Amino acid sequence: MIRLGVNIDHVATLRNARGGLEPEPVVAAGICASAGADSIVVHLREDRRHIHDDDVLAIRRTVDVKLNLEMSIDEGVVKRALEVEPNQATLVPEKRRELTTEGGLDVIADFDPLKDVADELKKKNIIVSLFVEPDKYQIEKAKEAGAQMIEIHTGHYADYFKKDQHLQELKKIRESVLFAREIGIEVACGHGLTLQNVPLIAGIKDIVEFNIGHSIISKALFTGLYQSVKDMKRIITDNRLK
Ligand code: PXP
Repeated sequence: MIRLGVNIDHVATLRNARGGLEPEPVVAAGICASAGADSIVVHLREDRRHIHDDDVLAIRRTVDVKLNLEMSIDEGVVKRALEVEPNQATLVPEKRRELTTEGGLDVIADFDPLKDVADELKKKNIIVSLFVEPDKYQIEKAKEAGAQMIEIHTGHYADYFKKDQHLQELKKIRESVLFAREIGIEVACGHGLTLQNVPLIAGIKDIVEFNIGHSIISKALFTGLYQSVKDMKRIITDNRLK
């Protein structure tokens, strides 16, 4: 059964816009779970610009589905992750001034620190996933660094999709998924996915998980969060079965 992780960072962004309490990320997490989300994804950024430490703790304590913590290998964030013990940690590159994660890790260049953090997390039974480009060399190194999963960056695919030039990137993703499966590593996909562009990727059978945020939260303004999660889950599941 294909899994959907819902990233709720943007709920925190809206809350922080007024510095108050509403809308509460933990409530959003509960609604996502009741609508069929298989995990809640939050990115605890080094500058805490959206999700805060208290949000992560509240979600961990009260929400009944898997917590996938997106994180850099910054020392303070790693310390917090080891305290919170999410079910899964997705290691991502992080630049202070980026609007959102801009691409996959360079596992070849940052192999040693990534491996050290992966080892620490795994000691706590946290599943480690590395966010990478659809690139065989990066995937091979991710496995060598101890990742049990990878998440393939679909942001370029999403950008090309808008210009109707996505088929080459789709091919790269398909080949990367196959390669990862051959070397025994599970594959998630995420970034920039929408109801329009997800069907082609959902048709790639070996993907086990999608992590989607911006589109689900944006649609939720018009349909409600519960319905928005349901709509995304249905489109992924339907295209999986085709
Ligand atoms: N996966 C990773 C690793 C991400 O960094 C993000 C963005 O926080 C997502 C998935 C979700 O991307 P989007 O908000 O574009 O759906």
